[in-house]
Amino acid sequence: MNKQPIGIFDSGVGGTTVWREIHKAMPYESTIYLADSRNAPYGERSKEAIVELSVKNTELLLEMGSKMIVVACNTATTNAIDHLRRTYDVPFIGIEPAIKPAALKSSNKAVGVLATKGTLSSDLFAKTSGNYAGGIKVVEQMGEGLVPLIEKGLIDSDEMTALLDRYLSPMVTANIDYLVLGCTHYPYLIQRMREFLPESVAIIDSGAAVARRTKFVLEEHELLNTVKNTPELRFYTNADEVLLRSFLKDVSQEHVVEYKDF
Ligand code: DGL
Repeated sequence: MNKQPIGIFDSGVGGTTVWREIHKAMPYESTIYLADSRNAPYGERSKEAIVELSVKNTELLLEMGSKMIVVACNTATTNAIDHLRRTYDVPFIGIEPAIKPAALKSSNKAVGVLATKGTLSSDLFAKTSGNYAGGIKVVEQMGEGLVPLIEKGLIDSDEMTALLDRYLSPMVTANIDYLVLGCTHYPYLIQRMREFLPESVAIIDSGAAVARRTKFVLEEHELLNTVKNTPELRFYTNADEVLLRSFLKDVSQEHVVEYKDF
């Protein structure tokens, strides 16, 4: 079982930001990544639809032999992870906006959260932000339109410039000193975001924390692969494999990117 892969899914290419952290923290672990780009964005869908898509992805990852599942999508985590944990017998790791560390560190007592509609409207998000953000102004902003542009590879487009300006400028006016990225696609926008944010604003996401948690839970379940083998790194998309490959061009370790109908 220990040599079985870690299964990871997202609504598209965004969860590769989490995959990168997992691979960095556990270089001998084999991984299977599913990019459900055909159904992106999840953030505009109902809770029921997000649960259904998360079940579909989980079942495929389990059929492919995954020993645990990382839900590398804030929207799927906040809407579906309870259902997944109740339904399947493997450990699940999810990702949520890192409000807690931002709220604890903020000197200005103001933090921004950029996330999808599905995440910001979820019960789990309401609970987390309520728990940790007492006395802190939390400027919540839906990132409507950002995921579809990233999924088309249009990071440097004028449409992206206009959306980032619209979403980030009010946060600057609100004097935030932390911007929490509540969607795994958004780390790909950090360079673009810098055009709108003063240097004093720190941008944080939860990818590295998820990788640490993944390692901890694997150890706890005695599922960590302790053999220093060359891992199998497989990536599947149900849309454009050229696009997914372009988001992995910095990955030097041998890996496979393929189209799959799922
Ligand atoms: N990467 C997903 C997340 O973290 C994007 C959601 C979407 O497809 O709207 O929320």
